[in-house]
Amino acid sequence: MCGIVGYIGKKQAAPILLEGLKKLEYRGYDSAGIAVQSGQGIEIVKAQGRLSNLVEKAGGMSLKGTAGIGHTRWATHGVPSECNAHPHCSADGAVTVVHNGILENFRELKEELAKSGYIFASETDTEVIAALIGGHYHDCGDPLCALSRFMKQARGTYAIAVLFRDFKDEIYLARKDSPMIVGVGEGEMFVASDVPAILSYTREVYYVDNLEMARLKADGALFYDLNGKIAEKQPVTVDMDPSAAEKEGWEHFMLKEIHEQPRAAADTFRRYVREGKIDFSEAGVGEELLKPSRIVIVGCGSAYHVGAALQYVIEELARIPVRVELASEFRYRNFIFEENSLVIAISQSGETADTLAAVREAKAHGAKTLAVVNVQGSSIAREADHTLFTVAGAEIAVATTKAYSAQLIVGYLLALEFARLNGKMGEKEYASSLSEIASLPEKMQTILARKEEYRAFAAERFNVHDVFMIGRGVDYAVCMEGALKLKEVSYVHTEAYAAGELKHGTISLIEKGTLVVGVLSRNSVAEKTAANLEEVISRGANVVCLMREGCTAGRFGAETVWTVPSVAECFAPSLLVLPLQLFSYYLSVRLGHDVDKPRNLAKSVTVE
Ligand code: AGP
Repeated sequence: MCGIVGYIGKKQAAPILLEGLKKLEYRGYDSAGIAVQSGQGIEIVKAQGRLSNLVEKAGGMSLKGTAGIGHTRWATHGVPSECNAHPHCSADGAVTVVHNGILENFRELKEELAKSGYIFASETDTEVIAALIGGHYHDCGDPLCALSRFMKQARGTYAIAVLFRDFKDEIYLARKDSPMIVGVGEGEMFVASDVPAILSYTREVYYVDNLEMARLKADGALFYDLNGKIAEKQPVTVDMDPSAAEKEGWEHFMLKEIHEQPRAAADTFRRYVREGKIDFSEAGVGEELLKPSRIVIVGCGSAYHVGAALQYVIEELARIPVRVELASEFRYRNFIFEENSLVIAISQSGETADTLAAVREAKAHGAKTLAVVNVQGSSIAREADHTLFTVAGAEIAVATTKAYSAQLIVGYLLALEFARLNGKMGEKEYASSLSEIASLPEKMQTILARKEEYRAFAAERFNVHDVFMIGRGVDYAVCMEGALKLKEVSYVHTEAYAAGELKHGTISLIEKGTLVVGVLSRNSVAEKTAANLEEVISRGANVVCLMREGCTAGRFGAETVWTVPSVAECFAPSLLVLPLQLFSYYLSVRLGHDVDKPRNLAKSVTVE
């Protein structure tokens, strides 16, 4: 959700903090602020709205100091406002905090403080954290002691960076569940929620582990457990390409990342396929893991939609029962785990709180866990038993595209391995399936080359509202993703519906001019979906038929037909999703929305 940065070294902190926040703005962007340890104490500047407002405001001030912290906010407690923006400080000014996460017991803690006469300036849980740490610090006089006491009374999630007025040359950190890394420079140290913020300074990072504290000085960092005992850690080198965090001439990150999908798919394929064989051994994934009696796929949002597609693909090819579960439901449903269950957790960021909790729930019940993640060193990657990384590169646009496509590739390869080891796929079919998957990047390119078709359609339909996307089987899973894309970047209400289910009530919403996108890739059911589309056409709907070349549905009464190159039906989602991504992108731009940072959203949902 929010973005945190910190700097301590020889340079002026303010410009480095602001630059870091720019790289993290996709994590939350309703307000921002920085605090700098200057000669006269801690100076704070905050602004509501986009980061540019803060940059302008800070530019008019002379924030001098070589240690500081910064924050870009996705509001949880308290409306987006300058008052609720971070950093927040204790009433006596001794402690200043930036926070990513949610303090779940903040109301009871706030009431206790208010009863003792504490006056709060904001509505936030973070100001309560500052007050608590300030109170402990007042009692024990030591930053680590104060942090430890706070951590023992806090419930919820937090990544906090803290300045203590009396400790000018130090920054303190504490973490539970929300991500935080420490970058190692030459005589300088960095703090960030995510790697892009520090990549231009260093690739050497420490990952702050759960319930750990840290003390940063310009020449290094020390890490401690909850009780203040030193925790030995080694830095790791991140291999993220800095260019991924730049637009490089593209108008928006989303358009850039849509066009990076062929490469992301090809790179992910190449990472796990050598000489015609799939090899997951780098993740320690051996045959015993790939012969489950039952598979449960958990994820949120688009990651869940990947699972929805893979449920059909794995069951079709490997004949192993697959359930796909919303992680936010799975974590609380007292799930019935069967012997030899494999839980596959899909997550681009590797930090989604619900998916992380689902992994922990599965492990607590003895299930084996396999994560499919795009970010090295992320919490889910570190806590799952095994992790298969997608090779999509850093994804900046809030609406995922290239990570979604790369996750599908990993899923297809897993399906082939499940099928082979489960005796459901012979060598010939295995080889032909692999070559079908290998053909996807080039076929993606041909669709992207026709992007003008989708831009023109979006320009015509800019006043569209209440869109339906319908399909059967794996096409329905594509509809889920297409509907989410359209909603999250264009704000147009869109529903994905199983084509056969529409007539059981919801068809009452179809009226003249309603836009219905029918997705047809499977010959066995294409005619059925075509019939459902005729049903809505007869009620005045405008229909777009999105189909795989070679699909037998024929053209029927659709006003618009979008075709994608033919490929084995199981792998068609990788192609069918592209026109829906492009339509969503172009409609958002036509409507004048901030397509990379849509309202109310954040790239990584690290709170419940
Ligand atoms: C996708 O476009 C959305 N931004 C959102 O649904 C996202 O897929 C979801 O929050 C899961 O994120 P993750 O893949 O990082 O776990």
